[in-house]
Amino acid sequence: MKTVLRTDRLALGPVTIADTDRVFEYCQDAELQACVPVPAPYKRSDAEHFTGTYATDAATSTKFSLWAIRLTGGPAPQAGPRPLVGVIELRFEPLGSAEVGFWLGAEHRGKGMMTEALRTVADFAFDREGLALTRLHWQCVVGNTASAIVAQRNGFQFEGVTRGGLPHRDTRLDAWTATLLRDDAREPAPGWPL
Ligand SMILES: CC(C)(COP(=O)(O)OP(=O)(O)OC[C@H]1O[C@@H](n2cnc3c(N)ncnc32)[C@H](O)[C@@H]1OP(=O)(O)O)[C@@H](O)C(=O)NCCC(=O)NCCS
Repeated sequence: MKTVLRTDRLALGPVTIADTDRVFEYCQDAELQACVPVPAPYKRSDAEHFTGTYATDAATSTKFSLWAIRLTGGPAPQAGPRPLVGVIELRFEPLGSAEVGFWLGAEHRGKGMMTEALRTVADFAFDREGLALTRLHWQCVVGNTASAIVAQRNGFQFEGVTRGGLPHRDTRLDAWTATLLRDDAREPAPGWPL
């Protein structure tokens, strides 16, 4: 992650080792484990690898960008960053495309935060002075309505089900898939199975 992005209530910045406890706690959630291909059971060492190695690699990687999502309201902590509430990531694909992935800690869901975070990341992704991408690709496990609503509200166009399209630990799951092109309207598109 090279750039801090901001909205009225969120800051999207680097994941650090100070986030290990939060990542460990949030990745215990069964709902998250059902939709995100994190290790299960999720061990403390998995969180340490994520914050200490994966996130460090993200700072210089040309293959992916990773942002910690943090709430900015209220007084700042005396030391360290504000608490991580979730993450959002872009995994780059050839020729100006990237796949987006995200999760929030359970207590932070249903408050519009990921819709807001994705909007900001998409702005940066398409900005010619940002990542200058032309296409974002999203997919989720079939039936993950919350994730689909986040993509739909950001203008992603539903493209259907890819059978076995989602590698998920030791198996493949059917996936809903959608894309957002740089010049698409950023408003809910028709055609979603919601
Ligand atoms: C997917 C996820 C990131 C969405 O983030 P969020 O900030 O809660 O999303 P938002 O609040 O912006 O929007 C979600 C909407 O879906 C709705 N929703 C959530 N679960 C729902 C369900 N099972 N059925 C119908 N609507 C649902 C919410 O009420 C909200 O709509 P509202 O604003 O009208 O109330 C979050 O639910 C999450 O982390 N889930 C577990 C991990 C995951 O699935 N990640 C995505 C993998 S592709």
